[in-house]
Amino acid sequence: ISTMSVAYKDQLYAELKKQHNQKGTLFEDPEFPATNSSLYFHKPPPGVVQWKRPREICENPHLFVEGISSHDLNQGIVGNCWFVAACSCLALKPDLWEKVIPDWKEQEWDSNYAGIFHFRFWIFGQWTDVVIDDRLPTINGRLIYCQSKQNNEFWSALLEKAYAKLFGCYESLAGGNTGDAVVDFSGAVAEAIDLQKEKYYADQTKEDKFFEDLLKVWNRGGIISSSIKMSQPQGFGLESRTDNGLVRGHAYSVTDVKRVRLGHGLLAYFRNETIPLIRLRNPWGKTEWTGAWSDSSEEWSKVGDTERGNLGITVTDDGEFWMSFTDWCKNFTDADVCRIINTSLISIHKTWNKEVNFGKWTRNSDPLLNRCGGCTNHRQTFLQNPQYLFDVTKESDEVLISLQQKDRKIYRKEGQGDNLSIGFTIVKVEVNRKYRLHDLVTQQLLHTSTYIDARSVFMRCELPQGRYVVIPTTFKPFTEGEFMLRLYTDVDSGCRELVKDKPQPKCWTPLCGYPQVVTHIYVDRAEIGQQDQAEGINPYVIISCESQSVRSTTKKNSLTPVFEFSAIFYRKKVAEPITVQLWSDDLGSDTFLGQVMLSGRPEDASHPQQLQLKNKGSKKADNMPGKIALRLVTSNELTAF
Ligand SMILES: *[C@@H]1O[C@H](CO)[C@@H](O)[C@H](O)[C@H]1NC(C)=O
Ligand SMILES: *[C@@H]1O[C@H](CO)[C@@H](O)[C@H](O)[C@H]1NC(C)=O
Ligand SMILES: *[C@@H]1O[C@H](CO)[C@@H](O)[C@H](O)[C@H]1NC(C)=O
Ligand SMILES: *[C@@H]1O[C@H](CO)[C@@H](O)[C@H](O)[C@H]1NC(C)=O
Repeated sequence: ISTMSVAYKDQLYAELKKQHNQKGTLFEDPEFPATNSSLYFHKPPPGVVQWKRPREICENPHLFVEGISSHDLNQGIVGNCWFVAACSCLALKPDLWEKVIPDWKEQEWDSNYAGIFHFRFWIFGQWTDVVIDDRLPTINGRLIYCQSKQNNEFWSALLEKAYAKLFGCYESLAGGNTGDAVVDFSGAVAEAIDLQKEKYYADQTKEDKFFEDLLKVWNRGGIISSSIKMSQPQGFGLESRTDNGLVRGHAYSVTDVKRVRLGHGLLAYFRNETIPLIRLRNPWGKTEWTGAWSDSSEEWSKVGDTERGNLGITVTDDGEFWMSFTDWCKNFTDADVCRIINTSLISIHKTWNKEVNFGKWTRNSDPLLNRCGGCTNHRQTFLQNPQYLFDVTKESDEVLISLQQKDRKIYRKEGQGDNLSIGFTIVKVEVNRKYRLHDLVTQQLLHTSTYIDARSVFMRCELPQGRYVVIPTTFKPFTEGEFMLRLYTDVDSGCRELVKDKPQPKCWTPLCGYPQVVTHIYVDRAEIGQQDQAEGINPYVIISCESQSVRSTTKKNSLTPVFEFSAIFYRKKVAEPITVQLWSDDLGSDTFLGQVMLSGRPEDASHPQQLQLKNKGSKKADNMPGKIALRLVTSNELTAF
């Protein structure tokens, strides 16, 4: 992720600071004034608000007191525990907070102090530099929003102010999502997990796998938080407690994920019994879990002193505590898992190939131009959405896809702050497709993400070699909006938007010819008759049409290969047949197994058929032992498929 940044509202920190230094004045931000409109749009804070600069609040203000730490913070009076949890997460990662709080040494109070600060957020794919003045809202001389434990430490209050500026006012921050804030701090990819629905604790294998996943995310610098849904809506500030000390409707940041070794001494080391544990922090800075593995629970007697020392267990009510992974899966209802995906080639961990595309859902009465067709429930319009093509060039590849819509918090003032319900579908397409999809009949629908009215939707899947189109959509058709689509694969996927509907010939004269019809061909499977054993028979298919031919992957040692392979041809010479040949790859000296020749006229049968394999060349009328199952559809309309 590049740290090149753009200046929000064109306000340049260094320049503004210099101007005020020269004049000896303190910065007052005209873009985010110290007025009620910067505080709220609906619900005023409970009391008389006075805006004060840190020096009017305490004697010796600092950005950091004794460094940055996840213990620094406490939540203020608005329901922004999610933001505080995100800040706690941030404080644990120096490489992240040093990006979000740039030039932090230069920003500390010193002789150049000019009441101006700046922070960086990753907004919709772009690091954005946000300038603020340091007038902070107080009631009775105390900060009312995010604050540090030490009353002379201000990084969190100032960071929150910069974040509030991005969304219009402080109230817009009420009831947000920790994962979203973490993404804005880091450019990570967020995945929201419904722990209640997944019920990991009910299936040991599934739980173990989940733990291994989280451990990997954690060890690679990822950021995790979790919360418990409120049983009924109770409004802001009305969190309720569970019997074992957890607070509902409240975001906890995960501060460690570990397998902890059980037992004492050398024997324990060899027995190697471990238990998966997770450490959490309550943004209140107090009120902890009281169940198993909590601060002074008896479970800790099972752990050797060295191991306990390594874990830094404290018994103070500092809001930080351990719990068993199973209890965490049981007691929490939601988790936000943010992956920091390393695309650097020198990384010691798996690195990813990243493709980012920005797009819009836009309305147009022409179906070929409309780009807001809704989800697959709307068969008629579903393909009227932006479409992105990518290739899986390995035998199989893990693909991560994140669809993020533009943040709508800024529109809350106007009552337009609701998220769109969004999601996406991946369709496997012809290996040589270059134009937009217009019909699903001939395609394999593959994976559809969940549809949710959250800022982003994430999906991870394993895809076999082939060409794919991912189609981001809103749930309902004719809904407009903007999105960012990120796709991560192991090797280059060549992801790009499909914009054209059909080939655009360079010249429209009969001489160079132009496509008359389009043919979609799908080769499902074959049966090879002449051999009696599969050993050494490695079949593949070649489809040729006019001057183009495409080849399927090779199936190893099979007499009944399943290809599920398709191709599309824009044909100039309708009279020329399409040839489907079956070959066996025998270490370079390939054996011909038979072929079929297809006329591919629009009036031909378009249902799946089983055809006898024939010989080629002068013997092309002779049968070859074996059959091939395929389907061919041809249309005069070039945008039919
Ligand atoms: C202990 O077990 C864990 C997995 O349960 C394994 O990763 C680790 O290498 C083992 N350590 C030793 C010393 O055997
Ligand atoms: C939380 O975990 C404890 C300990 O396993 C369990 O007794 C309790 O039922 C769990 N709470 C919920 C709401 O599942
Ligand atoms: C990626 O990995 C490299 C090498 O391990 C490391 O220097 C870099 O900081 C990592 N980048 C991120 C974003 O974690
Ligand atoms: C939008 O989605 C986020 C989660 O990404 C959620 O926290 C927020 O409450 C949603 N906004 C509204 C207005 O529902």
